[in-house]
Amino acid sequence: MAEQVRIKNTGLRGVTVADSAISFIDGEKGVLIYRGFRVEDLADRSSYMETAFLLLHGALPSQEELADFSRRIKAERQVPDFIIDSMKKWPADASPMDVLQATVPMLAMDDPSPIAADRHEQADKAMGLIARFPTLVAAWHRIRSGLEPLAPREDLEHAANFLYMLKGQEPDPETAHDLDVCLTLHADHTFNASTFACRETVSTQAHIYAGVASGVGALSGSLHGGANARVMAMLLELENEPDVADWVKKRLAAGERIMGLGHAVYKTEDPRSKYLKDMGRRLGDKTGQRWFEISSQIEETALAEFAKKGKTEIKPNVDFNSAPVYYLMGIPTDLMTPVFAISRIAGWCSHIIEETFAEAQEKPALYRPKAEYVGDYCGLMGCEFTPVDER
Ligand SMILES: CC(C)(COP(=O)(O)OP(=O)(O)OC[C@H]1O[C@@H](n2cnc3c(N)ncnc32)[C@H](O)[C@@H]1OP(=O)(O)O)[C@@H](O)C(=O)NCCC(=O)NCCS
Repeated sequence: MAEQVRIKNTGLRGVTVADSAISFIDGEKGVLIYRGFRVEDLADRSSYMETAFLLLHGALPSQEELADFSRRIKAERQVPDFIIDSMKKWPADASPMDVLQATVPMLAMDDPSPIAADRHEQADKAMGLIARFPTLVAAWHRIRSGLEPLAPREDLEHAANFLYMLKGQEPDPETAHDLDVCLTLHADHTFNASTFACRETVSTQAHIYAGVASGVGALSGSLHGGANARVMAMLLELENEPDVADWVKKRLAAGERIMGLGHAVYKTEDPRSKYLKDMGRRLGDKTGQRWFEISSQIEETALAEFAKKGKTEIKPNVDFNSAPVYYLMGIPTDLMTPVFAISRIAGWCSHIIEETFAEAQEKPALYRPKAEYVGDYCGLMGCEFTPVDER
């Protein structure tokens, strides 16, 4: 057996790989902007539907445009029967992210021409994906729970319809609004790992479904979208822990990471995180649950420990505060990352449209970075091959 080769990896940190007009982050100041609008303004005054339109089309919709967009999304929520029938044969303990990733190419099979001819066609396909993601996630949860999936309801808005399809009950308006705000806050985030995966895939001229399936796969990892489920698992583990501070200190001393802290771009508090923290505090007060108290203890202790080592840039990220919020809404822990995907699909599709049909771009470039070859074998030109029976 060959020895393991030691490699270094830049993770593409700080490398500008393309122009984009979709979103902007100032990691030093804690600013996130979608198409010119601060995310806090959108969370306070807009809606997920309006934000999805903004991301896809580059401008806020008129009242008529928003009504039409919303009506079309509502009309496209159904998923084909063959996908639901297939899901019923899948193992009930399959990860919801694996299920979501597996169903996206099945949507391509249902599309007679999955390769879009222009940006309008690509935007229509994007609307179909935005419409169907909640249906796919809710359907899987019901199937694995031994229940029949519920048909989407056109009289309900996006977040309310998802919670209805998930639980079989219409949510109260406050919960539906809170989830809509969460979806708005997660809708885009520049060239994060999953968005880059989408763009990289469609740069080969693969269709939007192949791009989105790549994005779902990348989002599932615990260093990216999977972190929210890991945060909730940590909070549940600490529910009856008498000394949270001690638990945190021991974990850090053992060289382990605390999920939900730190970010590759933000060097101060993530603007989305502050928002979700307030929501978590309010929901905690309303329900009498103490997740906010536990997460505050984790944050306080970990940040003090980081400060001792001069790592003052590690702050809570969006997953740290979204996890208890989703939990208090009754969203199961392993559906937290799929809920992230239900939101981020708008950003992914906007980036896919930009990657495939951006104007003033001479030709969409196929991503093809290079690696430093460090293979320590027989020199650059390679080894002399000997057949297996002579070895
Ligand atoms: C998101 C993340 C990968 C970004 O990391 P990064 O900026 O690339 O920094 P690195 O992974 O190189 O870490 C830098 C240092 O900070 C430490 N660090 C970063 N995040 C940490 C965390 N959550 N817990 C403990 N230590 C952490 C690392 O151990 C490393 O220490 P070292 O230099 O002594 O080895 C990282 O902060 C992390 O793993 N966070 C937890 C997972 C998470 O919440 N992901 C969701 C992101 S939205």
